[in-house]
Amino acid sequence: RLKMAKRKRVLKIFLWLVTAIIALNAILASLILRGITLRSLVSALESYTDGAPQILKKIVDRKDIIRDYSTIPDIMTFSNGDAVENYDNFMTRQEEMLLLFKDNIYGDVPNIDYEITFNILEESEEALDGNAIRKQVEVVVTTEYGQNKSVLLLYIPKSTEPIPVFLGLNFKGNTTILDDENIIPSYGRINEEGVVEETPGERYDRWVVDYVINQGYALATVCADDFAPDNKKTYNSRIIAAFGGDTGETEFKTISAWAFGLSKMIDYLIEDEMIDNSRIITVGHSRMGKTSLWAGAIDERVALAISSGSGSTGAALARGNIGETVGIINKYVAPHWFVDKYNAYSKNEDEMPVDQHMLLALMYPRKVYVASSTRDLWADPYGEFMALKFASEALAKIGEEAITENELPNAGTYIFSDYYGYHIKEDNHKIKLEDWEHFIAYANEFLGQ
Ligand code: GCU
Repeated sequence: RLKMAKRKRVLKIFLWLVTAIIALNAILASLILRGITLRSLVSALESYTDGAPQILKKIVDRKDIIRDYSTIPDIMTFSNGDAVENYDNFMTRQEEMLLLFKDNIYGDVPNIDYEITFNILEESEEALDGNAIRKQVEVVVTTEYGQNKSVLLLYIPKSTEPIPVFLGLNFKGNTTILDDENIIPSYGRINEEGVVEETPGERYDRWVVDYVINQGYALATVCADDFAPDNKKTYNSRIIAAFGGDTGETEFKTISAWAFGLSKMIDYLIEDEMIDNSRIITVGHSRMGKTSLWAGAIDERVALAISSGSGSTGAALARGNIGETVGIINKYVAPHWFVDKYNAYSKNEDEMPVDQHMLLALMYPRKVYVASSTRDLWADPYGEFMALKFASEALAKIGEEAITENELPNAGTYIFSDYYGYHIKEDNHKIKLEDWEHFIAYANEFLGQ
């Protein structure tokens, strides 16, 4: 009887093992069928943890990967095949590229009239131990369809001169950037029960407000949720609804809504006499980095657009297919960020009439700064650098000098040039003091402080 029991146990283990193997294979097969490769899974793991297993890292290590950039569209050739030969041609090509990005990726703001008003909710000379002025401004945008309200939080170093400003969207509400009890919670972070969903000071490390102020820069921030919740079901409930929804002639999607929100904050900033209108810098990490670049593209008042770890559909080239791909971002990560047509390029990137080097080229003669992190493979640091490199090659053809390095620099280095700045730090998916040090050094040198 003992023998029987033993056999039964072995059989049970055997059956269990077979089932587990079948299930594992089924999971792998279904991931592969959905376009999610082992490589992309590993890069996600690597980007968000402090030590994904080294052996797996080998699979995605940039040096081992063959990337195909052969179908990258040429910035210096118009869609009709004509060559871009000089500055004026370049400006016309920019208009063409901007439309291509609107049509294929980011969408646009519906072309309807609106009014904008600014209400100062609070102002103090006593912020940051008396070193800065704090202002909180309610920005109200009104159209025939409705109204959108947001709160801009500003810290400005005390000065008699107008001050350059960093403007960025925060993910989780204004109170999260600094433990300052006077900060008014963001409207978009108040849930249906009227409860504020913010943790004061939680994101201080990303914003290092006192450092920025001490360097002579103002910091302006507003919560992305004030314009559009980052949610595929409710994204169109705020500013998109106030513009009649996203289903009209132009699709008005989340990244567009966030970038438009930033642009409305600039409407306020240029009115504020304490701010230097010629040195408005947008900055953002990750999805907010994608937005910072798009805001720079649509609003010419942005002197410098900074992206940190913006990855897919930010600074990183879509061709090459490393880390997050067009298919993954559209289907699984955020179907509400980009226009429906972008789906047509999932696993079909070669057919795209644009790639992200063109987004960076759109800013010229204004400036772009791209920051990457070595272990942020999901955001494809190599692809971010290559986008800058391809954009630099285009600028060289009209006699401008931008980045001349051909290879991704080592961690800890930075490259500054007239139109483009770049650095890569040893880390995973993060923005922190080290990044701000480089941003400020670049702005000091190239925005003529
Ligand atoms: C996800 C997403 C990225 C995005 C990032 C972020 O990783 O896949 O596209 O940039 O979140 O915003 O942190």
